[in-house]
Amino acid sequence: MSDNPVRGRLNAWLLQTLDGYMHQKYAAIKSGLLADVPAVVVELGSGTGANMRYLPAGTRLIAIEPNRQMHAALRAQATNHGIDLQLHDLMAESLDMPSDSVDLVFATLVLCTVDQPQRVIAEVLRVLRPGGRFVCIEHVAAPAGSGERVLQQTIRQPWHWLFEGCNLCRDTGAVLRSAGFSHVDVQPIILPTLLVPIRHQIIATCVK
Ligand SMILES: C[S@@+](CC[C@H](N)C(=O)[O-])C[C@H]1O[C@@H](n2cnc3c(N)ncnc32)[C@H](O)[C@@H]1O
Repeated sequence: MSDNPVRGRLNAWLLQTLDGYMHQKYAAIKSGLLADVPAVVVELGSGTGANMRYLPAGTRLIAIEPNRQMHAALRAQATNHGIDLQLHDLMAESLDMPSDSVDLVFATLVLCTVDQPQRVIAEVLRVLRPGGRFVCIEHVAAPAGSGERVLQQTIRQPWHWLFEGCNLCRDTGAVLRSAGFSHVDVQPIILPTLLVPIRHQIIATCVK
């Protein structure tokens, strides 16, 4: 992640502007993925708090969010949704919680952007209790040879610059499958969205 204040603010503004649209696209998927959450959960890259609406009021959310331009909106969303927010201003590559201490870690549209996805997932595995879950929704590389893959390859550099490190061509499913979880379920989907470069996504549930 770069920490450019102008692009940081732009990305915070974009997330907030697109919040209603994204909620419309993801509501059913996220409601399923975040059903039955424990009282304390960890979210990587919480952004401006798009996922708080899916958590029961009173949930303690440990939000790992290194972009300070997102923090005011995150705090406001926590107040709106009755979430007990613990904001950790750090990168998910080095989590500050003890090993074997967490029941659920989740992330949406984050493993595309972290600098070192393998290291982030190793950290997730470290902090999860045995039997604990990591769930995520991520956009991924479109199938090789497809028009969408060509588009992703063509715009990947300006996209990476504009969206602070977002990589359109990651095979995040492969990262999850090779990480050492005891169980990994990766469902590919095509999100019906006009945001064509990120239509190819995965919904993943991984158990330590
Ligand atoms: C595309 S936004 C997604 C935000 C939110 N999860 C959502 O679905 O609306 C990616 C988020 O990941 C955060 N991020 C980038 N690199 C990160 C890292 N190494 N560790 C944790 N979060 C990171 C960014 O600051 C940003 O808030």
